Formats: sequence, structure tokens, C-alpha cells
Amino acid sequence: MNDLSENFFTGLLQERKTINIVKQLESLNEFLKNNIQVDNNENDISYNPIYLSNGVAVSPEIAVHCFQDYIRTHRFMLALYRAVQEKLEQFPKRKIKILYAGCGPYCPLILPLLYLFNSTNIEIDVIEINPYSLKSAKQIISFIGKNQYIKKILCIDATQYKPEKEDCFDIIISETMDKALEIEPQVSIFLNLFSYLKKEGILIPEKVTVDLYATDIRKEKSSDYEFYLDTSTTKSNQIQRTFIKNIITLDKSFLKLQHSKKNQENIYLTSLKISDLATENIDLLYITSLKIYKSITLSEDESLLTLKVYALTLTDKIIDSQVEFSYRLNNDPRIIKKII
Ligand SMILES: C[S@@+](CC[C@H](N)C(=O)[O-])C[C@H]1O[C@@H](n2cnc3c(N)ncnc32)[C@H](O)[C@@H]1O
Repeated sequence: MNDLSENFFTGLLQERKTINIVKQLESLNEFLKNNIQVDNNENDISYNPIYLSNGVAVSPEIAVHCFQDYIRTHRFMLALYRAVQEKLEQFPKRKIKILYAGCGPYCPLILPLLYLFNSTNIEIDVIEINPYSLKSAKQIISFIGKNQYIKKILCIDATQYKPEKEDCFDIIISETMDKALEIEPQVSIFLNLFSYLKKEGILIPEKVTVDLYATDIRKEKSSDYEFYLDTSTTKSNQIQRTFIKNIITLDKSFLKLQHSKKNQENIYLTSLKISDLATENIDLLYITSLKIYKSITLSEDESLLTLKVYALTLTDKIIDSQVEFSYRLNNDPRIIKKII
């Protein structure tokens, strides 16, 4: 591919066949890689992750791997595009304000907007904590001649960022998460940015759900090729599992509730009486799924964000106990369980 175009992004967003989505995003990957000129010094500190007090901001290299999680990237692009379309229909006479937190070196999720909407209709603030990623994202936007869409582009921590006004964005998008909401700071970022979203504003992803399932781990299969093409393994694992309960749902209601509580390090989620479990299966798994926007979702094995996570094995020793689940908001954020 020599250049990006409106046609390329129209085709990409209309594409439904996994194999074609992967091919098209591979060519976008090549284009972006070939047009970034920032120093390629492996010893540069910016090749490292940044350890924040509320999670790890992945290195530019890992952020590129996230881009290469192609079904994820495609669904997030599509979700943002649809959200902008809807906001423009709702407010045709004013600019739609978008905040993109954690753009990575490719700034990928907003790229379709820069070709499919007019710059008189949208304005985008971009924030990123990693200086290398930000420099690279700036270069890409300049290289493709789209600076007119960007109002601000700042190297700043999204968990601390305080825009000038509350309730100012129509859409806030951030994909700063890992499976089961572990390690990365998505929850802290949303907790901080939520007050800057308009009342009827759209948060992307709209909902992240982590559910608990019981299984027999010895019967679980693993994908032996690209996991997003291996629906038979996913189906065979799903058949033998029993749904236990929802552990956390990160959405606007969760954020509203937590906002009123302020500065908690541990958010109590739910508890489970082990003797109440009506299942033979004794291994517990966290299964993550995303409603990115309306009907655009990501379910198990469709992306790295939705791979299963082992939670716990129930042994005879704890049969009379309860498990209490909470979400820990420190430098290693994750769901934690306490047996009581
Ligand atoms: C998983 S990558 C996603 C990159 C890109 N948005 C995409 O979808 O491919 C997450 C990015 O968010 C950035 N990030 C993580 N925590 C951040 C924070 N607290 N403030 C600003 N950026 C952050 C990381 O440096 C990384 O570039």
C-alpha cells in the first residue's frame, strides 16, 4: 500500500470476513511501520513499559502487538466510527469532541475517522504516557496530513489528566486493559476520565464483563493455531463449563458508583459460598467479554483481551468457606480473592 485513503477505510470497516480483515490490517501495519522515522534504539528507555502506581503502561513494542490483535483493532475502529456517526446525527450543528487515551505508536483507533469524517465535524484530544509512542503517533498524523483533526496531543498520564472542563467529551475511548482487567490501568483511567464525559456521552469500551465459570481444567483445550480462527476449541470448552456468577462489570454505572466513594484501594465486588456451587467441576476460570459499542462485541478467544484466566481450584479443605472477590487498584491491578 502506497497511501491511506477514504476507500481503504470504507472497505476495511465494511469487511466482515476475518481473513480479509487480517490481510487489510497487515497492510496498514506495514504502511505505518515503514513511515515512522523515530529513532530505533533498542536501549532507549521508551522501549520499556512504564510502571505506574495503578498499573503497567505497555511498551511501544507491545502496543504494536496489540494493534496486531487484528479482530480487536477492527472492532474498536468500527465501534468508534459508529459512535461518531450517531453523535453527528444527534448533534449535526456542532463539533463532536473525542478523547483518545493511550494511543500507542500507531494511534490506530482514530485513523478511519480522519478519512471518513470532515475535520469541521470532529475534534480529537490524544493523550499517551509513553514519549516514544506519542512522538511516533504525532509523526504519523503529520505524515498523512491530518493535524487539522487534532486539538491537543499530550504526553500525560490518563489516570491523572484533568481537562479544563468537566462534562466536555462526547466520546472517550481507551483500550488500556488486559484479560480479566489485570495488570493495565483501564479501571483507573476510566475512573479518572469519567467526570469529563458528557452525561449522554459514549464510553468505549461500553462494558467490560468478567464472569466466573467452573470447569474441569484437564478437559479444556487450547487453540493450536491463530486463536481467533479456532472457533471449534472455544465451543468445545464452553460446552463443559458452568456459569457461576458475574464478578465485575466495568461500565458507566460501576464508575458512577465508585466515583462517589473516592480513593479506594480495594473495591469489594461479590462473594461466593463454595458449598452452594451445584457443579462437579472444581476449577474456576475468569472469562472476559466486551461490549465495545452496542452490537459490536468481543467474546472469548476473539482477542488477547478475552482469553480465559485461571482463578482457583476448589479443594476439600475449603469446601465450607466463602470466597470474597474484590478489585485491587494498586500498581498491579487485578481481581483478588480471599478465602474466609
Ligand atoms: C494496549 S496499548 C493500545 C494502543 C492503541 N490505542 C491500540 O488500540 O492499538 C495501550 C496504550 O496506552 C498507553 N497507556 C497506558 N496507560 C496509560 C496512562 N495511564 N496514560 C496514558 N497512556 C497510557 C500505553 O503506553 C500504550 O501505548
